[in-house]
Amino acid sequence: MIFQKANHLKGEVTVPGDKSISHRAVMFGALAEGVTEVTNFLQGADCLSTIDCFRKMGIEIENTPEHILIHGRGLHGLTQPACVLDAGNSGTTTRLISGILAAQNFETMLTGDASIQKRPMRRIMEPLSMMGAKIASVNNNDCAPLCITGAPLHGIHYHSRVASAQVKSSILLAGLYADGETMVTEPTVSRNHSEIMLRYFGADIRTEGKTAIVQPEPVLKGQKVTVPGDISSAAYFIAAGLLVPGAEVYLPNVGINPTRNGILRVAQAMGGDITLLHVNDAGEPTADLLIKHSPLHGITIEGDLIPTLIDELPIINIMAACAEGTTVIRDAAELKVKESNRIDVMVEHLKAMGCDITGTDDGMIINGGNPLHGAVIDSHMDHRIAMSFAIASLIADGETHIKGSDIVTISYPNFYEDLAKLTR
Ligand code: S3P
Repeated sequence: MIFQKANHLKGEVTVPGDKSISHRAVMFGALAEGVTEVTNFLQGADCLSTIDCFRKMGIEIENTPEHILIHGRGLHGLTQPACVLDAGNSGTTTRLISGILAAQNFETMLTGDASIQKRPMRRIMEPLSMMGAKIASVNNNDCAPLCITGAPLHGIHYHSRVASAQVKSSILLAGLYADGETMVTEPTVSRNHSEIMLRYFGADIRTEGKTAIVQPEPVLKGQKVTVPGDISSAAYFIAAGLLVPGAEVYLPNVGINPTRNGILRVAQAMGGDITLLHVNDAGEPTADLLIKHSPLHGITIEGDLIPTLIDELPIINIMAACAEGTTVIRDAAELKVKESNRIDVMVEHLKAMGCDITGTDDGMIINGGNPLHGAVIDSHMDHRIAMSFAIASLIADGETHIKGSDIVTISYPNFYEDLAKLTR
């Protein structure tokens, strides 16, 4: 797809439902007794993979434009799938489902697309094995396909080396089936959607500092879940609103959970004019965001902030490229094991557009302010790379050609249509 510089950007976009929360609503709904109704569910390919996996394990799921209804069968109601479970491109599906499969009284094969088959699974295989699970990497490379044979599980206290909500959630889900309490301590607290939603469904789960603690064998009850707009999708329009001269963008109903809202804090620290309106603090907090074009300056992004904006670092790179001065990003080695190696891919393509950027072991250094020009960009079949460069194209001279642009269907099927509405 070919993109041009924008000479205008104004209007309102309702971003689709949060990906992390949509996945969890299906999973927890399946393990609950009774019906779970989910509104504003993200109809992205990743969340549809989660639906597909649970349907294959005997869960009836109705998916209509109005809502999805999950007919839960309780903690012990899943049945053995007749075929391999396919998580597609979704790391969240793969890692969270593994925690559930570890405790079933059947064996499952779990795989995904070429990208999933390269992503590290040791990080869940190790703790789940410590709990007593039998989980093997079929090709002996610590990646999917995984063969998971359910087994009686023990409660453990796991100290994770990475701040990862997928690892934490996988262990907590296995902990629902363990013979005692399960605890996960993280180096820095990662997104806490599992903890919030499991408690809402009736689990006995609490947090103490960087530790999440779950008790086994809760009776989960089906609930109504209203999914907030995804701040990771809003991030592209936040950046567009800040970068395009004269722009003004309104984004209603965006999730602003503090474990996810680092993009807001960083954009404001860079000088961005962002106003939060109609803040609603119930459950998963939300707000409407008003963004106005602002001159930005470089900052340092590191430490505890990183997990709160890990998926937004590609678009933050684009903001940094347009900011005056230097932006340093550290402590973000996790970028290397996302849907693509997001350090290498961002460095290669931002350089191609004229940016002064250097990759490091755990981030990048960007000397902002060079004018950007169009280039040929390969999405590497990574949705966040495609969307980040679509935004970069709005302020670049000439044409930007994004190869593999369709990959946005993973998390934001209508992304290009919504963007076009603002620049029309
Ligand atoms: C997610 C957790 C994060 C994030 C991913 C979604 C989740 O991954 O990057 O897009 O829903 O739990 P990690 O747990 O690997 O950090």
